[in-house]
Amino acid sequence: MAKEVNKRRTFAIISHPDAGKTTITEQLLLFGGVVRKAGTVKAKKSGSFAKSDWMEIEKKRGISVTSSVMQFNYQGKRINILDTPGHEDFSEDTYRTLMAVDSAVMVIDSAKGIEPQTKKLFQVCRMRGIPIFTFMNKLDRDGRSPLDLINELEEVLKIDAYAMNWPIGMGKGLKGIYDLYNQRIELYRKEDHEETFLKLDQTGKLAEDHPLKEESIYRQVLEEIELLKLAGNQLDPQRVAAGEMTPVFFGSALTNFGVKTFLDAYLQFAPAPGSHQLVDGQSISAVNPEFSGFIFKIQANMNPNHRDRIAFVRICSGKFERGMDVYLKRTGKKIRLANSTQFMADTRETVEKAVAGDIIGLYDTGNFQIGDTIYTGKQALQFEKLPQFTPELFVKVSAKNVMKQKSFHKGIKQLVQEGAVQLYQSYSTGDYILGAVGQLQFEVFQFRMKNEYHSDVIMTSMGHKIARWINPEQLDEKMSSSRNLLVKDRQGLPLFLFENEFSERWFKDKYPHVALTAKL
Ligand code: G4P
Repeated sequence: MAKEVNKRRTFAIISHPDAGKTTITEQLLLFGGVVRKAGTVKAKKSGSFAKSDWMEIEKKRGISVTSSVMQFNYQGKRINILDTPGHEDFSEDTYRTLMAVDSAVMVIDSAKGIEPQTKKLFQVCRMRGIPIFTFMNKLDRDGRSPLDLINELEEVLKIDAYAMNWPIGMGKGLKGIYDLYNQRIELYRKEDHEETFLKLDQTGKLAEDHPLKEESIYRQVLEEIELLKLAGNQLDPQRVAAGEMTPVFFGSALTNFGVKTFLDAYLQFAPAPGSHQLVDGQSISAVNPEFSGFIFKIQANMNPNHRDRIAFVRICSGKFERGMDVYLKRTGKKIRLANSTQFMADTRETVEKAVAGDIIGLYDTGNFQIGDTIYTGKQALQFEKLPQFTPELFVKVSAKNVMKQKSFHKGIKQLVQEGAVQLYQSYSTGDYILGAVGQLQFEVFQFRMKNEYHSDVIMTSMGHKIARWINPEQLDEKMSSSRNLLVKDRQGLPLFLFENEFSERWFKDKYPHVALTAKL
């Protein structure tokens, strides 16, 4: 089993929207033999979409809304890529996904540098202490100078950077990359042309005669490399493993240049599944023979032809076998895992066996919740809590057609269990209220209610609110006023939705003994 676990590389690609995450994912799938042709820009525009962008809504809006999982074999490794939605409104889903990976690849548009969403996602990876690898994309376009980009990484993200390779020119003047790690120069070439590598001698210069030697950009790069060797960081695998140093690769995902070089080097450094933190401060090793895992995502109707719900499990230790019995920590109940699946975006196959590091999908009939731990063995386990975000935007929601209450309730129930939006109910009127971190979450909710549950919904915006939970024992319904709406959450726990900070302060002054909390 240890041998199998050591083959696993489970990672996420993070980026600000449009940096090229989908394009690079496609190239990786291409190397893995999963897709035959990269569906780049043209295909995207003609209506055939990247495999990882399979949801209807994604097709319409051109953004990745949900995280999907892709698995393939490459050079003796079993690779699990967890796709993450780049749009900021979906950060909640992304953050949970990042709890399920062992390393992350950060894609940066070399013309734009570090953008807001890159920074946020980086910080989550940092918090987890997982290794982060950087791919500076779009070299085929004019971008910022490589030194500038490296400096920005160190200054803005406060992480040491080590250039694994270095661009020789950019945009129309792109000649190739100077590959420090492999001691060679990789020449730029058209997408469908063979790679050409030129050897470097002991001193780091071209070993053989080549027209490139006469180019001024070549001499400039040699100077920059000297500078890097003198003043830059040394590659330190231990610091990479601890997430303190990021190896940086340059390339162009669109023209498939430097992507394979990146993947090959990445796999040398990316960690195999290690140990996972438990709530009691202990951890469990990936090679522990007992099975354990946690649910980081639940999704209904992944395939509109099969009305089903899938719970995504990150296996943290041991071996999964279809039909095995596990304990669900939250309820203490025993559950048989008979119906399991693995993913290739929109295609699935039944999975019989899987090991630590793998992601499996379990067909769920309502047993699981996000954050649940499942395990075998005598010792009960509970993994660390997944990050949760307090909603800031609220809408009142009701069914347009009062005769269609059943599908309305079913849709709300399932989408809320997925964690797509949060559901509350007003104490006084019984109205349903939805809470989200970003507006787009509501739009997706509305779209999916119509498409998947045939339920037209009416949503009335309530705007921004501050959600604060209150100890039920301290609650007096008279505390509610026009400026602090009293509602209950899905577990029936009471909270106030304050109009603004002023009304929250007013409440605190009036009821100084009442404790308010931001998150549950
Ligand atoms: P994302 O998943 O991170 O959001 O980005 P995605 O891969 O969809 O790429 C965003 C746009 O950038 C796409 O253009 C894509 O073709 C382009 N792109 C990705 N990698 C490269 C690269 O290496 N070089 C160049 N020149 N472009 C790249 P698009 O669909 O046409 O979008 P848009 O240009 O219309 O915004």
